[in-house]
Amino acid sequence: MSTEVIKVTINGKAFEVPKGARLIDVCRDKAFDIPSFCYYSDLALQASCRMCLVRIEKMPKLQTSCTIICTDGMVVTTASDEIEKAQRSMLEFLLANHPLDCPVCDRGGECELQEMTFDWGGLEERFTEKKNYQPERYLSPMVANDPQRCILCKRCTRVCDEWMGEDAIEAGGRGANTVIGTYGGWLDCSQCGNCIEVCPTGTLLDGTYRHQARPWELTQTKSTCTYCSDGCQLSLGSRSDELMRIVARDRYVNGLNGEFLCIKGRFGHPFVNHEARIRTPLIRYKKGGKLIPATWDAAIIHVAKKLDELVEANGRDSLAVIGSPRITNEANYLLYKFATELVGTSNYAVADSASLKPFFDNLGGPLATHRDIRYAKTILLIGGEPEELQPLTGKQIRQAVRNGGAKLIVVNSTPIRLIEQAAQFLHIRPGTEDAAVLTLAGNSDDALAAEKLGVAAAEIQTLRQSITETQGDLVIMFSTDLTTASQAALAQLPYALRADGRRVLLHPLPLYNNSVGAHDMGLANGGTNVSQLLDAAGESIRAIYLAGSFLPEHLRGHVEAISKLDFLVVQELFETDTTAFADVVLPAASFAEIEGTFTNNDGFVQRVRQSIPPVNQSKADWMITAQLAAELGLDFKFEMSPSAVFNEIAERIPAYAGLRYPVLKDESNPVQAKYKIAEQRDLASDLATLRDAVQALPATGDKLTTTPSVGHELFKIGTLTDKVPQFHLLAEGNPRPETVRVSPLYQITVAADLRQEVSAGKS
Ligand code: SF4
Ligand code: SF4
Ligand code: SF4
Ligand code: FES
Repeated sequence: MSTEVIKVTINGKAFEVPKGARLIDVCRDKAFDIPSFCYYSDLALQASCRMCLVRIEKMPKLQTSCTIICTDGMVVTTASDEIEKAQRSMLEFLLANHPLDCPVCDRGGECELQEMTFDWGGLEERFTEKKNYQPERYLSPMVANDPQRCILCKRCTRVCDEWMGEDAIEAGGRGANTVIGTYGGWLDCSQCGNCIEVCPTGTLLDGTYRHQARPWELTQTKSTCTYCSDGCQLSLGSRSDELMRIVARDRYVNGLNGEFLCIKGRFGHPFVNHEARIRTPLIRYKKGGKLIPATWDAAIIHVAKKLDELVEANGRDSLAVIGSPRITNEANYLLYKFATELVGTSNYAVADSASLKPFFDNLGGPLATHRDIRYAKTILLIGGEPEELQPLTGKQIRQAVRNGGAKLIVVNSTPIRLIEQAAQFLHIRPGTEDAAVLTLAGNSDDALAAEKLGVAAAEIQTLRQSITETQGDLVIMFSTDLTTASQAALAQLPYALRADGRRVLLHPLPLYNNSVGAHDMGLANGGTNVSQLLDAAGESIRAIYLAGSFLPEHLRGHVEAISKLDFLVVQELFETDTTAFADVVLPAASFAEIEGTFTNNDGFVQRVRQSIPPVNQSKADWMITAQLAAELGLDFKFEMSPSAVFNEIAERIPAYAGLRYPVLKDESNPVQAKYKIAEQRDLASDLATLRDAVQALPATGDKLTTTPSVGHELFKIGTLTDKVPQFHLLAEGNPRPETVRVSPLYQITVAADLRQEVSAGKS
């Protein structure tokens, strides 16, 4: 929007507003209430509900403020008898065919139509005609639908199209019979539920939570998602000790994601109260024996004694401590402190799929926020698949292209779905991403890179030309499985590519909710990775203290080494492939039960807040570490206070200097960690290493030509999503049930125990 200002007068008051501003936004910004149904910021205009009426001087009729761009000298009235009469008539018309069943509607209590009717509607219904009956149904395991409650605002169809790029629902039928529906009667989409979130009425409903609680029974707690690195802000709705649902509804939370969530963030929470949660500490007194329930005191004393004996016998480095990209900064910080200050071991690592150390050590420009992505002029995506692995980033890219005219360049060995939005797709051979980085950083390796990538040199020139032509922000995002030299060279690209009028911003795409924070908490660590530690397991490393579980790629090839350990302590929510080897398992509390912070891929440090008491006997990971340290003789002196842990983080870790929980309390104004921008480096030796690596790549090999199906990553069953029966249906291909009137959970059994879980109300 222009920086030029113009003058408008609203209800007798004069304001200066940016030229090009939309009237409805200006009125709301100046605290004049404008009712609306179809208008939704940053979506294409629909202009069909006619609730946003205003009077504009010199215009003959009432005008819809959502369609008006302010002009200099405009004089506007937002409230008058004439306007109210028109709005009441519109509402009466919308209600003519509406069932008026608020007491049994799941949206009752947080329905915009219900609220608007109380605010603006007539109290008596004058229509006596028979209403158009439409049966309730399911559109998918996640989305329930009561078609007759629809007011045809089409927020849902626009969100599905513009945010998700899926276009999976559309209005069908004619006149009074128009309903929102699917193509083919069953939703074969990414099941994000954003159509549910933005629906102002009870037409589209959360099929996993429906009829389980009323909104006024729920306590809403703002928190941060526990799945991917995008860090969406959520509202956890709990009733007594149970987490009932998760939404991003703007009446409860206003974070970087707006009302967007993906399937995991919205529907992936039933693991929290799941009956399979570990109930008590467990001790395996002898190898090969069973895990036996124990008290916390007994378990902590047992672990402390064993660790003490082993370190005494084998030296400090015989104990490895391993943090997790899924737990809070506070928990990772205390593990690092435990390793370095108490044990004195140099064997500390984070069980992540990749290390961000080469990237942050060479960081040559600021991290791009999700807002930066939305307003970028050019986006270069190297590797990765954000639409499946960082869905909010995927949405921002789509909107940048669709609503902002950005140019998207995709460099990928797979024709991912995002290529539909791309201005250029560099379809490369699998495993050659390094060659793309080399040519961008080196400028003189086009021929070599083209040969290895399997593209024409002209394609690389086109890519370079797009970058040099960019006026405005260039965002470079990358999958973190790039090699070390490649990550380092990429991190320095802002120096090579920035120019007058062009900022170069970087956006890493790590896989986990706190991959970035886990890196930050172990900054001083020399970059040891879990595979290196496991290579020494059973040899120089005799014991491991681990928060969370090993990733499958860590376990692969290391099972024998892990079983040779003298002692393995694991903090976990569930029994997993890793706890199968553990000598002690300590029940950890989930994100919904604790206070803390996660740091997302924007570098935003965001609050995690407690919604329910710890389930069973679980404890916050950081508390377990503090208790163990105390038993080993070092009192961390945090007095049960996560904010005290965070204060020490802010004192010790430069990027977090000055941060405090109160500074982080406003989710609508997230605070970015102050990462040190590394000076421009002479990259000659990194580029030489990278060139050698690229030269060693084969110049043959087939490219992947099939676009992966929607949900191939999102619907994968992991430890947490395993506890959500609906995910199993989706992972099995989302079969259409015999009838859509009943939840598919009651009709299709994909695993022997699922039906039982559902009928026992454990979904
Ligand atoms: S769940 Fe998401 S992808 Fe599916 S129809 Fe709704 S908005 Fe579209
Ligand atoms: S289903 Fe909801 S969001 Fe979609 S058009 Fe109907 S009322 Fe609007
Ligand atoms: S996009 Fe990522 S952070 Fe957002 S809801 Fe999905 S998993 Fe959670
Ligand atoms: S909000 Fe303006 S016409 Fe619906």
